[in-house]
Amino acid sequence: MTIHIGAGPGDIAETVLMPGDPYRAKWAAETFLKDARCINEVRGMLGFTGTWNGHAVTIHGSGMGMPSLSIYANELIRDYGAKTLIRIGSCGGMQEKVKIRDVILAMTSSTLSTPSRGIFRELSFAPCADFGLLHAAHAAATAKGTPTHVGGIYSSDVFYDERPDLNEQMVRHGILGVEMEAAELYTLAARYRVRALAVLTVSDHLITHEALPSEDRERSFGDMVEIALTAAFT
Ligand code: HPA
Repeated sequence: MTIHIGAGPGDIAETVLMPGDPYRAKWAAETFLKDARCINEVRGMLGFTGTWNGHAVTIHGSGMGMPSLSIYANELIRDYGAKTLIRIGSCGGMQEKVKIRDVILAMTSSTLSTPSRGIFRELSFAPCADFGLLHAAHAAATAKGTPTHVGGIYSSDVFYDERPDLNEQMVRHGILGVEMEAAELYTLAARYRVRALAVLTVSDHLITHEALPSEDRERSFGDMVEIALTAAFT
């Protein structure tokens, strides 16, 4: 057990999928894993372990924002030996060519602030995805026929943004979408030499102001889970 995860030794697989929402973790485990069992419910942050095509997999919520994800990813990597961590979540589209429901595979994530910023001080560290996972996820998404974009995203600390000028600079520099977790996940993966990727569905759009209807959210989320699982075991 760790401070925030009640799982016992051996309860967590080396491959961990991390949705922000703990109920999404429950849904994905019940839908895609065989023999899924709940291995954490401390503070309502649900985690489940089961198998997918014979491979052990854990699906564990990250919560929203980098400070929350950082707590769970640190404990999953350092205390439970997680080696492959894939965020599955939503993002806001930032380019016209990026449509609602499209998938974004985050090659890099820019950020103003992560729990790791204090380490780097004036250095602007470039958090990036594991190339093998990125490559495999792209192949999986292409095989499924899912419209997919690969490139840079922006991990913000705020959903209700008071700095529209920052978003404008992100758009100007070709950033595909905005979410709130990937940069810290990639930074931790670099630090501890594990693999990480963020597979994101565009759920709303900062330029067109469209939003994914709630009845479509489950299907889009399911596509991401399948892309992430296929990539993890390619
Ligand atoms: N901003 C930040 N995070 C998000 C958004 C957004 O517009 N959409 C989904 N996650």
